[in-house]
Amino acid sequence: MKTTRLQLAFAITLLALLGTLCLTPLPAPLANTQANTITVQVDKPGAAIAPTMFGLFFEDINFGADGGLYPERIKNNSFEFPDPMMGWKRVARGDAKGTLQLYDAGSRTNQPNAHYLQIKVDSGSGGFGLSNEGFRGIGVEQGAEYSFSVLARKVGDTPVVLRVELEDADNKQLGEAAITGLSATWQTYTAAIRPISTSGKAHLNLLVDGPGIVDVDLISLYPKETWKNRANGLRADLVKLLAEMKPGFLRFPGGCIVEGRHLETRYQWKTTIGALPERKLIVNRWNTEFRHRPTPDYYQSFGLGYYEYFLLSEDIGAEPLPILNCGMACQFNSGELAPLDDLDHYIQDALDLIEFANGSAVTTWGRKRAALGHPAPFNLKMLGVGNEQWGPQYVERYERFAKAIKAKYPKIMLITSAGPFAGDERFRYLWGEMRRLKADIVDEHYYMAPKWFRDNVGRYDDYPRTGPKVFAGEYAAQSSGGGGRPENRNNWECALSEAAFMTGLERNADVVLMSSYAPLFAQVDAWQWTPNLIWFDNLRSYGTPNYYVQKLFSVNRGSRILPVQLNGSGKNGQQNLFASASFDDKASEVVLKVVNAEAASKELRVNLIGAANIGQLGKAFVLTADLKAENGLDEPTKVTPVEQQLAAPSAGFNFTLAPNSLTVLRIPAQ
Ligand code: AHR
Repeated sequence: MKTTRLQLAFAITLLALLGTLCLTPLPAPLANTQANTITVQVDKPGAAIAPTMFGLFFEDINFGADGGLYPERIKNNSFEFPDPMMGWKRVARGDAKGTLQLYDAGSRTNQPNAHYLQIKVDSGSGGFGLSNEGFRGIGVEQGAEYSFSVLARKVGDTPVVLRVELEDADNKQLGEAAITGLSATWQTYTAAIRPISTSGKAHLNLLVDGPGIVDVDLISLYPKETWKNRANGLRADLVKLLAEMKPGFLRFPGGCIVEGRHLETRYQWKTTIGALPERKLIVNRWNTEFRHRPTPDYYQSFGLGYYEYFLLSEDIGAEPLPILNCGMACQFNSGELAPLDDLDHYIQDALDLIEFANGSAVTTWGRKRAALGHPAPFNLKMLGVGNEQWGPQYVERYERFAKAIKAKYPKIMLITSAGPFAGDERFRYLWGEMRRLKADIVDEHYYMAPKWFRDNVGRYDDYPRTGPKVFAGEYAAQSSGGGGRPENRNNWECALSEAAFMTGLERNADVVLMSSYAPLFAQVDAWQWTPNLIWFDNLRSYGTPNYYVQKLFSVNRGSRILPVQLNGSGKNGQQNLFASASFDDKASEVVLKVVNAEAASKELRVNLIGAANIGQLGKAFVLTADLKAENGLDEPTKVTPVEQQLAAPSAGFNFTLAPNSLTVLRIPAQ
């Protein structure tokens, strides 16, 4: 038969395409005898992969909340820090003379937000008042709108004008506003400011022109643009990064922050809802945790509180997962215990939280949620009892929580602790106890070296298939080996090792219900712990290579596991290859994830056993880089997945894996 020009052109095009994609369709025999074979049993789907399989762990560490996700620009904005002038400094211009005097209107009542400041100008002009440094500076974008507000009252008869100025680091004015007509009673005054240029290190001045006295409190500069443009909303670029991961759940607010160094400074959700002035500020435990990374200006204003966490979960389509204090302060710190006969109010907090989230608007706490603007329930399904607790003290407290919660809300799944480490004596003891108590889900944490992640890809292969399920609740490869050490890097070697490990999580989806990288956020000038998934400054943010690994797994989560064999065996890690497969019921696609943890490319033979109607066009998402490669504020997507077409896949095809790569293949099939 003669070959027509059209057939020839088609053949040439196809060859060129296949060359680009390194893909050879069947029936071409394997040219490379070294090729590895991955066999996916498409006709033998296994367990369902929980929609919560890949989620998010949020903790207010590294300026994750105030100065991060919560975009209030003014630090210590109501003078409630123990050093009430922290973040503020006095400003006197020209010949202006005056005083700043702090007042505490709640010294007898311990009420929140009782402090306010009096600005008294005795003489002169030019401006007298104070300046706020923000959170390592104030970030403002040229032309964007910022809402300034202040609670103020005039003292005495002299009319007072408050001048608000935004200045950059060189004291060049970026914008200003004037507040006039101040009354003698406390009132909130607002002004909109649109900076004439962008600065990540601006500061805000609040000045009185000419003699007069004014009391000020709750000074705020808030971006108009927030995620979904909510009032008191969250920083849009950071939430966008989260939303794009399509996370299955959002764990909040931690982490050790739940526990507090002492019980007095534990996280208490009830103090974090309602009007902002009613949210009582406390110290952030990461303020003093690491001597090598002290952060004396780290406090929790709770502007981002439990209501906002629930809203955020809803906004990004993630199941909310609050973790509550169980009457134990961090055992790495004071280890204080609430006496067992004083545990009831901790347990009541848990019961009330469920009512706050799920109760109808006629219930006590459901009514509060409705009053905040969300009459519909948040549909809370899970709750964590304690964070990284250990020992019999934890077990006896958990038992009391479980008894009370299950009696009233039997469908709520409880997350329990397995301690802080991946397999020590504490871990084994707790697992034994949790099996005995028939706990729902056990939370495992591991901050280990990259090699540990590659070596432990089979960690869950031999876990019992009955009893409590697993939540890999905090994990991240530590390049320097030590958990949270400042030398750790978010490099590709760490991310690749986590990817290898995650194939093991996915393959064991019948045991592992949930997983999350930790911590989530870090401010480049104010962090305590590293590595972290997302870094940001006052204007910009970027996802690390680890972020792109998490995202690839999450957005390519299938519905059911498919059995995978590597070179005829179920053992992963051979030749530094790691794989998992699933079937995506909605897209009707086989999803194959393969990690090549070697510096050489690898020929791969993929066999899809029992697959029907294989589509003509699949997709490959390839993430590869130098092992030391990192992303940064100036190169935010240096390590990022590249999408390729996978032309004409069939029941058996070849694919060349890039060196040190994570590849996700999506092949239409039935
Ligand atoms: O993710 C940082 C910390 O590591 C968490 O607060 C704690 O749970 C763990 O020890």
